Amino acid sequence: MKFFVDTADTAEIADLAATGLLDGVTTNPSLIMKSGRDFMEVTREICGLVDGPVSAEVVALDHAGMMREAEILRKIADNVCIKVPLTIDGLKTCKALTGEGTMVNVTLCFSANQALLAAKAGASFVSPFVGRHDDNGFDGMELIRDIRLIYDNYAYPTEILVASVRHGIHVLESAKIGADVMTAPPAVIKGLFKHVLTEQGIQGFLADWAKTGQSI
Ligand code: E4P
Repeated sequence: MKFFVDTADTAEIADLAATGLLDGVTTNPSLIMKSGRDFMEVTREICGLVDGPVSAEVVALDHAGMMREAEILRKIADNVCIKVPLTIDGLKTCKALTGEGTMVNVTLCFSANQALLAAKAGASFVSPFVGRHDDNGFDGMELIRDIRLIYDNYAYPTEILVASVRHGIHVLESAKIGADVMTAPPAVIKGLFKHVLTEQGIQGFLADWAKTGQSI
């Protein structure tokens, strides 16, 4: 499963990219706001930090406006992936852009039928928001299971990008279901490295090693 980080914080992205485990980045208007940076400038910087797709979201709601914004965004770098909302205009834009060879991430997906439409529109990625789904009394992982089943039934190449990931269980379940990608905040990804027994084990080994009086 590919790991994307869901942030526009370039220090966090650089830190995770250095592990060699980062496959891409997702941003959204709220994350750009949180960064306090200029959208174009920070997106260009992020594209230089990772080789994989960097999602940059349009804010227009109509097809013509989305195409105009996408035209500007896709010139930033070859690894820009245009993020469009799962609306009729968003999917029209998705169809047009992917037809021209531009990567598209269809975002704000909350139903398997919406994911089916995104695949039919040729989306490179579909982003079902599991955390927000859970928050509203639905089962986010059940949604991922349904989308996996549908995409496999028809061999749709659209990648399932599990979004709005809040904790390690979301990551674990996504991997068990066979989601293609998950995107999570830096803290969630860093949390995956941790285990209390790993820490305890290191402390125990170091204490015994000190007693040997040796060095490497
Ligand atoms: C995905 O691309 C979105 O940016 C993101 O995962 C939304 O997550 P949130 O529900 O934590 O805002």
